[in-house]
This record gives sequence, structure tokens and C-alpha cells, in this order.
Amino acid sequence: MKIIRTLNYQDMSRKAADILAAQVIQKEDSILGLATGSTMLGLYKELASRYREGDLDFSEIKTVNLDEYLGLHPSNPQSYRHYMDENLFSHINIPVENTYLPSGMTDDTDEECGAYDVLIESLGGIDLQLLGLGLDGHIGFNEPGEAFIKESHCILLDASTIKANARFFEDEDEVPRHALTMGMGAIMKAKSVLLCVNGKAKASILKQVLCGPITPRVPGSILQLHPNLIVVADEEALSEI
Ligand code: F6R
Repeated sequence: MKIIRTLNYQDMSRKAADILAAQVIQKEDSILGLATGSTMLGLYKELASRYREGDLDFSEIKTVNLDEYLGLHPSNPQSYRHYMDENLFSHINIPVENTYLPSGMTDDTDEECGAYDVLIESLGGIDLQLLGLGLDGHIGFNEPGEAFIKESHCILLDASTIKANARFFEDEDEVPRHALTMGMGAIMKAKSVLLCVNGKAKASILKQVLCGPITPRVPGSILQLHPNLIVVADEEALSEI
């Protein structure tokens, strides 16, 4: 595990962008695993600006996102498809057909999740998986539970996740209760993992993730077993380590 300590959010975003940019430059047809949420906004802005400056080419890149809310149409501003289009895809030269998320509009979540795993396998797996960290230790939407779940699956979101994500919705009642998420198998099989964490509120959970016992009660703790984990976190997030 490599931990890169940054001064603040902006510094975290730039350093994480450096790592992603290096991946795109070194392997122009990389498979990138992407995440949403506020942690990633600065990083995606950085990537867009480096693309505009002519430093990056995404024309052969393919992306697979970690998760999507169940029941939200891609045109819904709260859907993760919409988030990705708004914050990254529309600002870079990635062909839209190279960008994949689980479909939140499926009638059959088992079939959709199975197909998502087959898709990831057929792409040859993920070269670099980007992750944020939930306040309850989730990665993707792998919530705390009795066991690590290997396959993509449909999950009932934890009350704390619904509360945390309510800030993106008009009302907490509008936050979907279920989401489809990539499982731990595809995440752990990624050739490298880049975990980005910022802010004091995540200091305690980041300590548990990186230094505590490996347990499905703290889903991110499984990353301690990843052979190529890079953590880019600001001083506040690392303040308890
Ligand atoms: C989002 C995702 C989640 C977030 C996590 C942190 O695609 O998979 O695990 O990374 O909930 O969210 P923020 O960055 O909003 O604190």
C-alpha cells in the first residue's frame, strides 16, 4: 500500500489526476473503473482541463462505473449516468459507447448484475479502479454486512448512506433505497486501485479501513489485501493515522 498525503482537497484532486493521467498515457486503451460523489469532482475537473490543454487522449479508453441507483433513468439529474456525463464524459473525447454503468432501469437486477460482471470480464478486467470511501466504510455501494460479496449485486442502502447522499436530492425521501453495485471481485481483480479520501469526517473510517481488522463490517478494509493500492488522502482524512 502506498499512501500519498496531500495538503487539501485541491492537492488531492491534482495528485489523483496525475496518477490517472499516467495510466491513460501509458496505456491508451486502458479500462478505467470510475466512481461518482463529491470526492471525484475536483479530479474530473482536472482531467477535463488536461484534455483541453491537449495532454490527454481518451479516444480509446473504456470506462466501467462502480454503481447506479435503482429506478433512476439516465436523464434524471441524480442518476450516476447523468453525473458522469455532466462532470467528465461531455468534457473529454471518450466515445459514449465506451462508457458503461449498470442500468438503474432494469426489471431484473440479477440479470443486469450478471451481465455487468460478464462485460467487465469481456473487457479483460479493470486496469485502474478509482474509489471514494463512504462514511460507513463502503466502497462502490458494498455496504457493511456479514460477508464480502464478490459479484455485482443489488443492495439496500444503509440509512447512513441515504442520509449522506440526501444532499444531492431535494429531500431525503427522494434518495433511492436500492442501488446496483460492482462487487468486491472486480474491484480486487483491478490491476491497481486508487482510493481518494478527503476531510475530517472520514478520518476515523479511513483509519479503520487502512489499519483495522479486515472485516465485511468495514467493507473498504478488504483493500489492505490488494497488491497495488494507492491512497491519495488529505491531511484531515489522515489525521488519525
Ligand atoms: C460512488 C461510490 C461511493 C462514493 C462514496 C463517497 O460511485 O461508489 O462509494 O465514492 O459514497 O462519496 P462522496 O465522495 O460523495 O463522499
